This record gives sequence, structure tokens and C-alpha cells, in this order.
Amino acid sequence: MGLVTLEEVMKIHDGAVGAFSTYDLYSAQGIINAAEEKGLPVIAMIGSPVLNKLGNEELGEIMVNLAKKSSAPVCVFLDHSKDLATCIKAIRLGFSAVMIDGSHLSLEENIEVTNKVTEVARGVGVSVEAELGALAGIEDGEEVKNAKMTDPTHVDKFLSSTDVDALAVSIGNAHGLYKGEPKLDFERLQKIADIANVPLVLHGGTGLTVEQFAKGVSMGIKKINIGTEVKKTYIDAFIETSKVNPAAHDMVGIPLACKDAVKEMVKDKLEFFARGYKELL
Ligand code: 13P
Repeated sequence: MGLVTLEEVMKIHDGAVGAFSTYDLYSAQGIINAAEEKGLPVIAMIGSPVLNKLGNEELGEIMVNLAKKSSAPVCVFLDHSKDLATCIKAIRLGFSAVMIDGSHLSLEENIEVTNKVTEVARGVGVSVEAELGALAGIEDGEEVKNAKMTDPTHVDKFLSSTDVDALAVSIGNAHGLYKGEPKLDFERLQKIADIANVPLVLHGGTGLTVEQFAKGVSMGIKKINIGTEVKKTYIDAFIETSKVNPAAHDMVGIPLACKDAVKEMVKDKLEFFARGYKELL
């Protein structure tokens, strides 16, 4: 199937598509191999702060190459860019989707920066995700302290003034590990879903319950972002595998174990978001 846009990947089945943060070759292979083994679509994301680190443009190119060669539909996605320049960088690398995150701005400024990105992206067939409301928490080293839930009364104005393929919402979800049990405002999600004419995106997937995922998907969530769980799965596998024979400094076996651990975690999530959630409704 190969590289597909966000718009295309969200139409392949009636559930939600898992979107997983990628940090290196092995996490990229784990995420894409999971989709291939499951015969399901996947979104491989790289965060804007990660892509902008020295040397990581090559990682972006690797992700695009892996996606093109994949037997599964893979969307290569720039996550949480706050500026047009990083979106252009990702588009030049061959990404099929970008997120412009103007959630820290006023509604008018968010519309303005989003339109600058869609103008460029539309011309080259790249999908765009935007965000309304802001999520608390730390993502790829960047912290948001002032969370604000998505105001349903802004949704119509935002969507009728822009041309985005998906909208990320803030309904109590947060990046990183939740302190205590996460509480999602489903009444708010319903109000947003009643107005929105594009698929909705749930960020901050790590730590949400299967019941919350199922309810969200049934109400119009089509993309679910998982970042922290990728990092935890990878690093736990690294530590456990290296403990077996620390003196070996096994730079062949350890990365393979990390890749396999990420792959198994992603397989479970892809299956649940695409089909398994229906059993909980
Ligand atoms: P978590 O790190 O909480 O899973 O969130 C990831 C995310 O939403 C990336 O945009």
C-alpha cells in the first residue's frame, strides 16, 4: 500500500487509526511492521522538536522510505508544529501529513497560521491537522502549563474559516503520564462532534482506559495519538534485555528487542482502535 495521506488513512476502516511517536530507526520499524503484521493502517509521527534536532531530518527520510516500501497503508506525520517553517521542512522530506498547532494562540491567530500551512500543503497533496483548545503536559520536552478545553462555540468558526482534514480536541486529555485517573468530558466531545465536519483526533492516549477509547471512537474520534507508551515500552525492553548480559553491550540484540516490544504494543492498539473497541459498546 505504501505512503498515504491522513485524509486517506482515516477512511480505510470505520474505527480509529493509531498514531505513534517515532524516535529512531527501531521505533519506526516496530510501528510500521506492526501495521504490516496486522494488515491495518498506521500513522507514524515525529514531533516537531524531535525533527528539528540536528541529524533528525535523516530520520524523517527513513520514515518516508519505510512507509513507501510498506505493504500496509502508512501516513508519515509531523506532530505539533508551531510554525510554517517546520511544516515546510516535513513536506520537503516527503511527509504525507502535518499538524499545525496554533492552540496556544487566539482563535483568530490560530485560524491565520493554520491557513498559511494549508495553503502550502494543499498544493502538494499533504493533509493537515489543527488543534482547538490546548492540552496540558509535556510532549517531546516541551511543556504546556495552561491547558484549555476546546470551546464548542469556536468549532464552527474555526472549521468554516480553514480547510483542515482533522481537528485535535482538548477534553481533559493530557500529554505524558496522567496524575490519577484521567477524566474525559464526553459531553463536550459530543457537542464538538455534532458541529465538526472533519474527523476528530484524541491526543494524550497513554494511560486512557479501553472504555474511554471505545466511547471516544464511537463519538467520532478517528485518530488516537500514543507517545509516552512508545518511549516506555522501548526503554523498558532496552533495560530488561541489557540486564541479561550487561558485559555483552549487545548493540544487535538490544535494539531488536526494543523494536519487537514496540511492535507488539502497537499491534494491540491498532487492533483495539480498529475493531476491538466495538465489543465494549
Ligand atoms: P502521550 O505521550 O500522552 O501518549 O501523547 C502523545 C501525543 O498526543 C502526541 O501528540
